Formats: sequence, C-alpha cells, structure tokens
Amino acid sequence: MNPDRRKILKVMGGGVIVAAAAAGGFLTTRTPHRALAPWKETHALSSNEDPRRIALSHAILAPNPHNRQPWLVDLVGADTVELYCDLNRRLPHTDPFDRQITIGLGCFLEVLDIAANAAGWRTEIETFPGGENFPRLDKRPVARIKFVEDGALNADPLFDQIFLRRSNKDELDVSRPVATSDVAAITGSAKHETLQGMVTDAAQIERMRKLTWEALDTEIRTYLPAKESVDLMRVGKAEIEANPDGIDLGGAFLESLSLLGQLDPKGMLDQNSAMFSQSVAILKPSMMSAMGYVYVKTAGNTRKDQIAAGRDYVRFNFKATELGIAMHPVSQSLQEYEEVAPYYLAARDELGVAESETLQMLATIGYGAKPEPSPRWGYETRIRKGA
Ligand SMILES: Cc1cc2nc3c(=O)[nH]c(=O)nc-3n(C[C@H](O)[C@H](O)[C@H](O)COP(=O)(O)O)c2cc1C
Repeated sequence: MNPDRRKILKVMGGGVIVAAAAAGGFLTTRTPHRALAPWKETHALSSNEDPRRIALSHAILAPNPHNRQPWLVDLVGADTVELYCDLNRRLPHTDPFDRQITIGLGCFLEVLDIAANAAGWRTEIETFPGGENFPRLDKRPVARIKFVEDGALNADPLFDQIFLRRSNKDELDVSRPVATSDVAAITGSAKHETLQGMVTDAAQIERMRKLTWEALDTEIRTYLPAKESVDLMRVGKAEIEANPDGIDLGGAFLESLSLLGQLDPKGMLDQNSAMFSQSVAILKPSMMSAMGYVYVKTAGNTRKDQIAAGRDYVRFNFKATELGIAMHPVSQSLQEYEEVAPYYLAARDELGVAESETLQMLATIGYGAKPEPSPRWGYETRIRKGA
C-alpha cells in the first residue's frame, strides 16, 4: 500500500483509522490530548495514594471490545473494590450474551492485579460473588477485590507493558514472519484457567486469513451489528474528547475528510457507497496480512471462564508488546449471532476446538508500525461510590 493510503484506518469490527498523514500544525492541534491523558496520568507506584486508585488508574488502560470501557467500580470500606459492568456499555448485537464484554472485564482485572502487585499489594479476587448471570450480565458485582499489603511480592515483569500495549489494527508487514519461539512465548505467558493455541503454519495462516476476512465482511454487511459499530464511531478531536471511547477516527487526515463532508460513518451502512468500498479497501489488507494467530479457549463457557480468558488474553498482548510484536483481536468469527455462526464452526474445525470448549479470543500477530494509544475515560469517572 502506498504510504499515503496507510493513513487510513481502523474501522468496523472495532477497527479504526490510522491517519498518519503529516499535515503540519493541523495534525498537532487535532490530537485529542485530554482523551489520551489517562495513559500518562497513572499514579506512581511509590506514592502514598490509596493503592486501589493506583491500580485503577492502570486498569482502565486494558483492552476491551469496541473500547466501550464497561467498567464501573465502588470503593468499599478501606481496602476493597467492587467491580460492576456498566450495563449501558454492552454491545447487544455483536455480543448478545455479554461474553466479550465479560472478557474485557477480565482484562481489566488482570491489569488491576498486576499494578496492585507492583505497588506492593496482593489482591484477593472473588469473581461473581453474588452468582453468575446468564444469558446476560445484570446489576450484581462482577468481582470483589480486597487489597492486602504484602512486602514480599515480586512485580510481574509484564507491568512495564501496560503503557505500551496496543491493539494494532493496521496492515502488517508480510515480509516479516514471526518466529515460532516468540509465538510460544506469547501463549506461554498465560497463567489462568485457560487453554492456549497458535497458528504458525503458512497454509493454515492463509486459510485463517480468508476465514477471518469473510467473517468480518459478513459483519459489515449485516445491518444491526454494522450499525452498532457505526454508531460508536467518533470522528475528529471534538467528538473523541466528548466521548473518549468507541471507535476513534481521529488525526488531521480523517478530520479534514470529515470537514469536507467526505467521511460520514453512516455511509458504511450503504453497501453501494464509496465509503463502504473504502472501508473494505482498508479492512481487508489488515486481515489478509496476518502473519500468525494466537488464541485462548476455555473448557466451558461460564462467566469465570470468560474472565480467565480476558486475564490471559491481556497477558498475551503484554508479552507480544515486550517482544515488539503487534496483536489484533479478530472476533467476528467467534461471535454468537446467526449470520456469523458458520464461521465459528469453521474456526473451531480449523483450530481443533472441541465441541465442549469455547474459543474465546483469536488475534492476529505480526510486525507493524506502532499505533497511537486509544482514548480513555479517566478512572475517577468510573468510580460510582466512594469517590
Ligand atoms: C473481547 C475483545 C474483543 C475484541 N475484538 C476486536 C475485533 O474484533 N476487532 C478489533 O479490531 N479489535 C477488537 N478488540 C480490541 C479493541 O477494539 C481494543 O482493545 C479497544 O479499541 C481499545 O484499544 P487498545 O487495545 O489499543 O487500548 C477486542 C478486544 C477485546 C477485549
């Protein structure tokens, strides 16, 4: 792809747009500094701050579906955090049973735990203390976390990657394979109750590229799931700063297009539009440039399984970051709505996932330019009680 075209985009399927175009001063003025501030405003581990705040200021940097940031917390007593799902931040069309949202909450818990440990606090985590909730989450807590001071803890070496981790949705470098030993190091970073797998064989990578692209192509052509993504697109600095979540389409290049009336996300819902063809032209190379895959599956599909999958997925993402390897979750073939169901069966066959098991996370790996961080709501805005 010519470098100018690269500026574009992550779009649907959690995707985005890249906008690396150097547009001089305009580029600098269009950076949504406030929306990116939480990446810099974590509390120092050695500060006298309440350790719960230290840990929360890191946990909100966790990956999560469509960057909805579905976490909501109560600070209870002097040492406990209760984690809830913000039920308004779910994705009913692409995630009808809240499985992926729960995985995102698992990612949050893992980052919280790693940051607490690094600050010298052990966490005692009880998930779903009020019971598990199916088919959808409800108002009961997702986890209760007690902080216990423990001077004997060793910080997890993955801690440093919290700030550097990204979901990289851009086209990867197809001339640079990933060494199998590195892929094994990524899957080997898991430490919760999950099963891990990888795809490194060239012929299988090719089949997986096709399968994951077809699933995404189906999603962008299926009205309600596609609209769910389109409705969450934030175009330009003002929209991103007003709602630092969802799918951010920022940067000077895209903002210029938007000002010229050339970038209206709603156009993506019309399969005959230029906007739709442009999205395909950007999304497809990203999927077709995967240089391997890693995945997390679980023996069952309880809420605790989904939490464990999130905890291990973010560990993969940290380990890959440490190794300089890009990761990009590609979830369409794992989703539970009718139109993509055939792709789940195909992925299960391809990856040898037993019928009783659940494929929870699938991500591409490869080498590529590092994207900017994605926006975040500050952690204080997610504290419901005890602020
Ligand atoms: C359960 C889960 C599913 C995801 N699925 C996708 C996906 O299908 N496509 C995609 O581009 N990103 C996917 N993501 C990545 C999120 O879009 C990303 O974490 C979020 O936008 C925040 O960006 P960051 O990870 O760079 O901080 C997924 C993340 C999680 C936790």
